[in-house]
Amino acid sequence: MRVLANQVHSQIPIHSEYGGVVPEIAARAHLEKIDPIVRLALQEASLPLEAVDQIAFTRGPGLLGPLLVGASFARALGRSLGKPVVGVNHLEGHLASAFLRDPALEPPFLCLVVSGGHTEFVKVEAGLDYTMVGKTRDDAAGEAFDKCGKILGLGYPAGPILARLAASGQRDFVLFPKALDSKDNFEFSFSGLKSAMLRYAASRPPEFIRNNLSHICASVESAIVDLLVKKSINALYATHMQVITVVGGVCANAYLRNRMQAEAEKRGFRALFPAQAYSGDNGAMIAAIGQWRAGRGLAQAELAVTPSLRWR
Ligand code: KG4
Ligand code: ZN
Repeated sequence: MRVLANQVHSQIPIHSEYGGVVPEIAARAHLEKIDPIVRLALQEASLPLEAVDQIAFTRGPGLLGPLLVGASFARALGRSLGKPVVGVNHLEGHLASAFLRDPALEPPFLCLVVSGGHTEFVKVEAGLDYTMVGKTRDDAAGEAFDKCGKILGLGYPAGPILARLAASGQRDFVLFPKALDSKDNFEFSFSGLKSAMLRYAASRPPEFIRNNLSHICASVESAIVDLLVKKSINALYATHMQVITVVGGVCANAYLRNRMQAEAEKRGFRALFPAQAYSGDNGAMIAAIGQWRAGRGLAQAELAVTPSLRWR
């Protein structure tokens, strides 16, 4: 599998003035950008539209408006070209970003999905058969990064900003709670961390927070990452897997990459991360899972093109 083009139009600047995604604005931006972005991708690949063999698009989970734009566009394109259209799952797309790193990767392996909406361990078996090993009971890891960063006034999305500040901070400056920290528990709970952050910030003068910002960020990052890494190692032992792939927006986090790699290698496990370009939401991972499924006769029928908002 080779990526010929990967064009991403980020909506972060559009939504940042509202401090979060505004669904209506997101849908309109999709509508405005989808045609130019397809043209740009073809230009980057130096291919005419007719050279496309198959079209994959995100069927869900997500927001209805943006999903409808993608589904309608993909179906119309497929019809006009006479080419098959495959509606794929967004999270399965993240999972496929690991195949882009290592095309020889074959199940079974363990996958940790860490994004803004999801934090879960999934056991991946042959034929892309999935078993949920454990997931978050409340907030996702990305959400924890974002909410803690927001309390510290870091802007949107706060996760990557917090991570940048954390790089020069002292990690044990604040000991934030680590929930569900027992060996055989593969669930997460990050809502307590957010509450602890709120209490911490509210009980100290703003100058103190400002002067110790990098230390506080490093402490938050450690509270989240230490738990992700420790539970990953325990889950590898418990599921008898040798390989863990870490995917979803939070996998861009450098501290997570370093710690996971070190702790896995120390025990003879392999931790695989997608390239940075395929860590956040991107089209290449959606194409990859579409091709992976079609290549193994697992593609969904063209009729399955209606968005699925809560698709597991
Ligand atoms: O997968 P993604 O791009 O979007 C979905 O949620 O589907 O993930 C976005 C999440 C956000 O919560 C963002 O703050 C977080 O990933 N994120 C990071 C970093 N880069 C993105 N969190 C921590 N450190 C980062 N470097
Ligand atoms: Zn995502």
